[in-house]
Amino acid sequence: MIRIAIQSKGRLNEESLALLRDAGVKIDDQKRKFLGRAANYPLEVLYLRDDDIPEVVADGSADIGIVGLNEVAEKGADVDIVRHLGFGGCRLSLAVPKDAGYNGLQWFNGKIIATSYPGVLKKFLSEQGIQASVRVIMGSVEIAPAAGIADAIFDIVSSGGTLVSNGLVEVESVLKSEAVLIANPSLSDEKRAILDSLLFRTDAVIDSRGKKYILMNIPSDKVDEVLQILPAMRSPTVMPLAAEGWCSLHSVVKEDELWDKVEKLKALGAEGILVLQLDKVIE
Ligand code: PRP
Ligand code: ZN
Repeated sequence: MIRIAIQSKGRLNEESLALLRDAGVKIDDQKRKFLGRAANYPLEVLYLRDDDIPEVVADGSADIGIVGLNEVAEKGADVDIVRHLGFGGCRLSLAVPKDAGYNGLQWFNGKIIATSYPGVLKKFLSEQGIQASVRVIMGSVEIAPAAGIADAIFDIVSSGGTLVSNGLVEVESVLKSEAVLIANPSLSDEKRAILDSLLFRTDAVIDSRGKKYILMNIPSDKVDEVLQILPAMRSPTVMPLAAEGWCSLHSVVKEDELWDKVEKLKALGAEGILVLQLDKVIE
């Protein structure tokens, strides 16, 4: 049995559960309490505040966890970062009121900065030689300047919507973050084996995200040119069709390159192009 700590609510909760679900681990979310158990996998789920996850994994109360890199950096906890998970992207940034006359980092000298990330902030300020006071606030940091309790903030920015609606502008991005899978550095062999089998599954899920399966018919004399456009995992599958002079070609493309590639393939004479959902990619 291995125990994973995930966020009980907030930006990473849903996507953490979705990753486990897509990896075939059944967790009954309806009966979610503090601790849950997977129905078909040797996994226990511990639901926690994101801030608590790095330390709980470091002290072995949980074996692994899914949490933002921002929290790992802040806590400086002794954990292994096992995977970057490709969701929960955000950054830790300094932001100031939009009419503050910001003119560069030295603006922060003598100012009060509100944050829930004092560790990361103090390190950054000292590296930059800035003398500012750090005021720790554990929630609603974005209202601190309007409330007159700080001159600026240092907080998570994702869409930027929170800053805009509070009349703030992002002026320095200090740390890029995303969800990471962390592990206690001294797992038993048994737990390490469960983690490896879980990683085998989650890697396949993550690899499939943002990719599509594409198949089409192409004139045989265009195969080489088509292969330039569609480099697949190893190489695309090309099969001759019954109709002379035509092949069927199967490959995998990144979704954000899909339409561009489809246009080029059409121009080379590709026909009957099918684009299909990819569920898992096991390389
Ligand atoms: C963060 C941050 C902002 C908001 C920014 O809070 O404190 O309030 O997200 O996101 P935006 O740029 O998309 O508007 P979060 O929801 O992570 O909660 P927490 O800080 O209390 O854990
Ligand atoms: Zn939090």
